[in-house]
Amino acid sequence: MIPFVGGASIVFDDKARSSLPSWQPEIIAFCCGYCAYSAAALAGSERLQYPPGVRIIQTPCTGKLEMEHILEAFEKGVDGILVVGCLEGGCHFVEGNLRARKRTDRLRSILDEIGLGSERLRMVNLSDAMAAAFVQHIQETVQTVRALGPNPIKMPRQKESAGEL
Ligand code: FES
Repeated sequence: MIPFVGGASIVFDDKARSSLPSWQPEIIAFCCGYCAYSAAALAGSERLQYPPGVRIIQTPCTGKLEMEHILEAFEKGVDGILVVGCLEGGCHFVEGNLRARKRTDRLRSILDEIGLGSERLRMVNLSDAMAAAFVQHIQETVQTVRALGPNPIKMPRQKESAGEL
């Protein structure tokens, strides 16, 4: 379900953002079960470090990742999403990563339209040996999202659960 349908816009709360000095963005990295997950596993076995707050979710192929999965994650308050697939021409389901690229581009436009910001969603392509690049993309995503601040969808929910609304 797309949040904020009906023309309402999302207002970024700079005051709330600046009151979170040690805030770590919650990031999901959707990794295909072939090259991307292997690169992530290799990064782990090489003890390469990346910031906390990053959850890796394995998907059979990035082509199996539906737009609804990504929108639902944002709706639930995730701050940023990185989609990681095989190199172009290397998808084990032939064109899954090409379809994922088109969907990601479409979703980035939607995120801009609803005021969430396209920068919260990225897609990269890696081979199974590219552990260092995997970690670098994670770090870049975390830095970008940290500069944007928390997902504005979850701020009202946090206030609501704290009894402030
Ligand atoms: Fe890796 Fe399709 S199997 S992107």
